[in-house]
Amino acid sequence: MPANEPTTTRNPKFRLIAVSHKYKLLILHYSNRTFLKAVMIKINQKTDPALNHKTECLILPCLEIKQPIGLLKEIDDNLQGAISAAFKNKRFSGKPNQTLLLNSTGKASNILLLGIGKAKEVTAEKICQAAATAVKVLEKSKFKSVAVDLSNFESLGKGGLYGELAGAVTEGAGLALYHFDNYKSKDEDDPPARMEKLTLLTSKAEQTTIEKSIARAEKIVNAVHIARDLVSHPGNTVTPTYLAEHAKKLARKNKITCKVLGKKEMKKLGMGSLLGVAQGSDEPPALIVLEYNGAAKKNAPTVIVGKGITFDTGGISLKPGGGMDEMKMDMSGAATTLATLELIANLKLKMNVVGIVAAAENMPSGSAIKPGDILKSMSGKTIEVLNTDAEGRLVLADALTYAQRYKPKEVIDLATLTGAVLHALGHQAAAVIGNNPTMIQKLKDAGEATGERVWELPLWEEHEKAVTSDIADLKNIASPGVGAGTTMGAAFLKPFAGDQPWTHIDIAGTAWGFDRPYTNKGASGFGVRLLLNYLEKTR
Ligand code: BES
Ligand code: MN
Ligand code: ZN
Repeated sequence: MPANEPTTTRNPKFRLIAVSHKYKLLILHYSNRTFLKAVMIKINQKTDPALNHKTECLILPCLEIKQPIGLLKEIDDNLQGAISAAFKNKRFSGKPNQTLLLNSTGKASNILLLGIGKAKEVTAEKICQAAATAVKVLEKSKFKSVAVDLSNFESLGKGGLYGELAGAVTEGAGLALYHFDNYKSKDEDDPPARMEKLTLLTSKAEQTTIEKSIARAEKIVNAVHIARDLVSHPGNTVTPTYLAEHAKKLARKNKITCKVLGKKEMKKLGMGSLLGVAQGSDEPPALIVLEYNGAAKKNAPTVIVGKGITFDTGGISLKPGGGMDEMKMDMSGAATTLATLELIANLKLKMNVVGIVAAAENMPSGSAIKPGDILKSMSGKTIEVLNTDAEGRLVLADALTYAQRYKPKEVIDLATLTGAVLHALGHQAAAVIGNNPTMIQKLKDAGEATGERVWELPLWEEHEKAVTSDIADLKNIASPGVGAGTTMGAAFLKPFAGDQPWTHIDIAGTAWGFDRPYTNKGASGFGVRLLLNYLEKTR
């Protein structure tokens, strides 16, 4: 295929084309919808400065400084002092995510100054956010092909950041340019603005690291896009059966084994809690199990458990109508679990990870569970269902019990479990609650590094008592007035989670509407980058 032709494969191709001994073109294709290509050009700084690169717009990352220096000064001179004027009038100073678009008569028709903050405070995540900000601004202005100059940042080389830079730019740009328009008819006369090409101008330093970091970023972007797609599709597309089929397909493509338990197998195992939620729906439930073995069998796996309610009406405890459509996102934990497993396999990480998805649809019907009903879970514990809208914890209970058969090293569950987490943390961070402070600290560190922040909420013995039932072992909601809704969800899960380190991540506020430069309205794919970082750092 010629280098300049977009591909339509979902799994991006990574191709290296030697153009001459001086330049290398690295062509990356993103998803089939955005057609964004990241092209890396190794520039010889002396003979080929960034200014000699022909492009619609050259993005110039700028540290926070008082006035233009170095390359910026050179460009300022070419632009009749437009940049120094912007600094003087405080329209631009290089603060993180600040942008200033300037016209130019040079080889670059436009120049976008992009703030990346103080030199000492630059991190990969900050670059990721800045790149996202830049491409979003430019895409809105209908730029199709832009370049970003990284050749000036060798000074960030200490500690390897220079090598990571191109990856961080690729990651931020790729994530920011996500669009979900699968269900829109094409308008040939007025096609939506889509950026198609991003050229990375790099210096000759650390070429191998740069190439590797771009390839890795591209895999990450692809995984997050997959998670976002799964969440964005409506409930009449993504059913428990759809999730199971998706899982089987991804297992076939990667070194992953997949098992799907249906109603019959679940009955045999005594999964009355999961089956109880599913019984009101015509859609059959599924317990999806993915096993990835990248390390010796003797190493106990990390088990990731995802809530996969493909639509949450609330059941007989019916939700109000306004905004109910958003409850197609109630399988976000499942989406993140599936995408993360695929990513780990794709990156060939040397670890063992199991993914378990509890998939069901929560509907009101003649066969649905009612408030007051008592279910018997796989663990043997009985559950009084006082609110059928607290269904996530019911499906997770049996999935967590099932996880115990792997004798896990640790268990992480991801769930859009409570609206209360939105009151506590808004769209800024997910809540983490668990039984192991070290594990929680490591997840917080991973959150800081990736921007996918998590914040700990407590789970005390007093909280745990609040979910004991008068007539069964547990009740699925606490009495009115107890409060601490997010903690109550975790308090209910704890008896099913086992004694090994366990952390519950409530992503109800971040799976949808997560507020970052590289997210868009709707699905965020939250958790994929967080878990990847956590798993890599803890091995
Ligand atoms: N899926 C919802 C939680 C949710 C709310 C996710 C808003 C995303 C945005 C969950 O199943 C639910 O309904 N939780 C109830 C629990 C309550 C009945 C104890 C809630 O938060 O209101
Ligand atoms: Mn619910
Ligand atoms: Zn729910």
